[in-house]
Amino acid sequence: MHPKRGYRRARAIVRQSRMSRLESFIRRMTAQRVVLDAVSAEVSGMEGPILELGLGNGRTFDHLRERLPGRRIIAFDRALGAHPSSVPPEGDLVIGEIRETAARYAGIGAALVHADIGTGIEELDLKTLQWLPGLSASLLRPRGIAVSGLPLDHPDLAPLPLPEGVPAGRYFIYGKIG
Ligand SMILES: C[S@@+](CC[C@H](N)C(=O)[O-])C[C@H]1O[C@@H](n2cnc3c(N)ncnc32)[C@H](O)[C@@H]1O
Repeated sequence: MHPKRGYRRARAIVRQSRMSRLESFIRRMTAQRVVLDAVSAEVSGMEGPILELGLGNGRTFDHLRERLPGRRIIAFDRALGAHPSSVPPEGDLVIGEIRETAARYAGIGAALVHADIGTGIEELDLKTLQWLPGLSASLLRPRGIAVSGLPLDHPDLAPLPLPEGVPAGRYFIYGKIG
């Protein structure tokens, strides 16, 4: 599917029920936690690092760290803005534009790529969708999992079902084919 169509379809599903941005945020965070818990169980037995695209405040980084103890998590962001308790160790924090910095990790064989870099602003998100699906696919090992707040339409990424209770369009899960 063309990225624009996939993105607009997802946004339309989310917008179907009018709600405040606060309510929408809460639902997104709830979906994020349920999805991350589900995929953590899945990747716990899979080799390969975890890649966090968009460290932000470090909340999901911290959650993944808790759910997958001892696993290497490499986090990316254009600037460090994480809470001091959620700053990755030296060597596992990569500062710069993800499109360029993460591309250097192509072929790393990640078990999980989590991308939380959507903005809700169509113009910006459509630009991101020009490179994020291909980048995510290039970072994953075969049968590795990509989780994203934006739809990742790519021939090497097969959509996986969402856990129960997560409405379509809120979060997306894919398995790397091959
Ligand atoms: C929504 S926040 C991530 C929040 C994080 N998951 C958490 O739980 O705290 C998105 C982050 O991604 C970063 N970001 C978005 N697009 C980026 C890009 N193209 N390159 C580098 N960083 C980017 C922003 O700077 C921001 O810190």
